[in-house]
Amino acid sequence: MKILNFGSLNIDMVYSVENIVSPGETVSSLNMELFPGGKGLNQSIALARAGGEVYHAGLIGEDGKMLSDILAENGVNLKHLKTAPCKTGHAIIQVEESGENCILLFAGANHQVTTDFIDEVLADFSDGDILVLQNEISNLPYIVKKAADKGMKIVLNPSPFNDVINKIDLNDLYCIILNEIEAQDISGTDASDFENWVNKNYPNLKVMLTLGKNGCRFIEGKASVYQPIFPVKAVDTTAAGDTFTGYFVVGLCNGKPINEILLKASAASALAVSKKGAAPSIPTRKEVEEFLNKL
Ligand code: RIB
Repeated sequence: MKILNFGSLNIDMVYSVENIVSPGETVSSLNMELFPGGKGLNQSIALARAGGEVYHAGLIGEDGKMLSDILAENGVNLKHLKTAPCKTGHAIIQVEESGENCILLFAGANHQVTTDFIDEVLADFSDGDILVLQNEISNLPYIVKKAADKGMKIVLNPSPFNDVINKIDLNDLYCIILNEIEAQDISGTDASDFENWVNKNYPNLKVMLTLGKNGCRFIEGKASVYQPIFPVKAVDTTAAGDTFTGYFVVGLCNGKPINEILLKASAASALAVSKKGAAPSIPTRKEVEEFLNKL
């Protein structure tokens, strides 16, 4: 089973700050570093480090070599990574001492994904292959429709949430991975009613609900499984969710028991939180296993 991740690639400009800047305020940062990032790229690295056979489809600009380099170093298949005549996407990220962050995105090449490009990429995949998506590239509803028509199993992380997500038919999805705020935005109900809302409207949809410091809950029909977080000192929360997604999807593909999948994905995410940067903070399978063995 192949895993295609059709997703964004960003250069993350990460500013360390004492406190995240407020509207109207000017502050000096303590440090600035560049990291490879983008929800798509981070998830591809996590999928690969978790042991998946991953193809990344997407677009960078001519300034995006550091992004293709890190994907290649991690064994991600780059047949469908193209270069567009524009700037690579970037993110301006402030990280404060608590590890909390805030992110400003510039889409750049990520919004040059055309329907022709999508058709060309999907022609290489078939029934039963997994498609992982986030919401940082153009023409997302088109990708979902086309991939569902082919019988691909679509895993959507509807992040960052905006109106585009409302144009997607959730019946086309195999699984959705989202946090409580996104759950509320999608369902229009309180997060505590989300499980009932899914069961009533999309009874076949698998749901991976992440609850921040309160852990996560996997919901399938009337059954649900809960996993708490592993408490660690937070250094930078960037890409913690992407790390979780990658490990979770590979676990699903390998048909592992759900409690084992959630344990590994949560451990991987805890390790990502304890290191700086997006993609560089994503642990390898070996690191995750060593972390779990030490407990
Ligand atoms: O999920 C973290 C990512 O969101 C960052 O790497 C940034 O590029 C944004 O896409």
